[in-house]
Amino acid sequence: MDVKKPRGTRDFSYPEMEDRGHIQESISAVFERFGYRQILTPTFEHVELFAQKSGDEITEHMYVFEDKGGRKVCLRPEATASVCRMYSEELRDMRLPLRLYYFCPMFRYERPQKGRYREFWQLGMELIGSKKAEADAEAILLAYESLKAIGLSSELEVGHVGVLRGLMNDLGIAADVQDKATAAIDKGDRDGLMYLTESDVLGRLIGLKGTSDAISEAEKLLSDYPTASAALGELKEVLNWLDLLAVPYKVNLGIARGLEYYTGMVFEMRVPALAAQNQICGGGRYDKLIELFSGLSVPAVGFAFGFDRVMNAIEHQGITIPKKQVDVVVAPVNDEVRKAAFKITADLRGELSVDLDVMGRKLPKIMEYAAEVKAKYVLIVGPADLKENKATVRNMADGKQETVDLKDLKRRLKELCR
Ligand code: HAM
Repeated sequence: MDVKKPRGTRDFSYPEMEDRGHIQESISAVFERFGYRQILTPTFEHVELFAQKSGDEITEHMYVFEDKGGRKVCLRPEATASVCRMYSEELRDMRLPLRLYYFCPMFRYERPQKGRYREFWQLGMELIGSKKAEADAEAILLAYESLKAIGLSSELEVGHVGVLRGLMNDLGIAADVQDKATAAIDKGDRDGLMYLTESDVLGRLIGLKGTSDAISEAEKLLSDYPTASAALGELKEVLNWLDLLAVPYKVNLGIARGLEYYTGMVFEMRVPALAAQNQICGGGRYDKLIELFSGLSVPAVGFAFGFDRVMNAIEHQGITIPKKQVDVVVAPVNDEVRKAAFKITADLRGELSVDLDVMGRKLPKIMEYAAEVKAKYVLIVGPADLKENKATVRNMADGKQETVDLKDLKRRLKELCR
């Protein structure tokens, strides 16, 4: 049988899993320092959850199937809609704000390439309950601090879909055309946008990028458009917070995001050197999504790191991740001492990372194995030593050996391995 893994999925062996685990823990620790608590939603959901507000970009790429009960379900393509559903179903009586985060795989049937997979992981957060600009600023600050904690440099761009949609409202563009226009902006399809909206002002607005100059330009451009101007005022407030918190950013009024549920500030982080799939993080404010599921008007803001892209960026930027190492390999020299060696191992495993030969190999072969797994020490358990309640510790770095009393063994090995 020649069965391969499905296209767009990956196997992760242990060195990679250890690196991923280290980075995930480092970022989660920052999330927890900001007061976020981890949650988990189901891997599959009812299709309707994503049908209304996630946008064609997501729904066209969903893994949809019918279960044995004839229900249409899908593998989750993202988690924000799931978290809003969970809030409506499970958390609606909890005191706000709720600070939640998740780390789990998402599934999108896209054309696989480096940085784009059919199964990929997101590490994301949702701050539920506040409509204040400082909640937006907290989300952005958290993304920024997370990357700082792992030493990754990236570029942050902040925009506001309320400015885009506000302008389209002021121009009298119908809601369904707005959705298509927003998707065109997200794809960078300027001609499509012009065809849909025929608006020169909108065309100029999405080209505005930079710092405070982009904001002043936008203010001039939008002076006759009250809804768009009001949204621009909201964006300025968020930017004021970022200035206060010394988070470096660029304004980009052309960020539309691929998901339709955003209503306010939106942001993306990129590592330009990663070529095509360089967006490592995306998020923004969505004040109407929870209402869609619960009828409760609860505002929220959040973002998700594309975890696999973060890992690609780490590799690209040459960031070293501390490697895990086995502390001790226990080597019974013959069958006579095997039981005693196992008991010693069991005791040491309470506090150290200990590997025991279970292959019945001879000492030289165990030494080769210990070198291969990069053990720091080999504990040689031989009959002569054992008779005196002793064992021999060999340092794999320099080959030096010392004989240690069994009663002192754990303390001594801990001292050596520290
Ligand atoms: P998104 O921009 O669709 O937003 O995805 C977030 C991140 O996931 C992207 O910036 C990218 O790094 C990564 N990503 C997306 N598709 C793939 C793929 N096929 N392979 C690898 N990585 C990928 C969301 O999903 C929103 N739920 C984020 C959010 C949370 N907004 C508010 N709260």
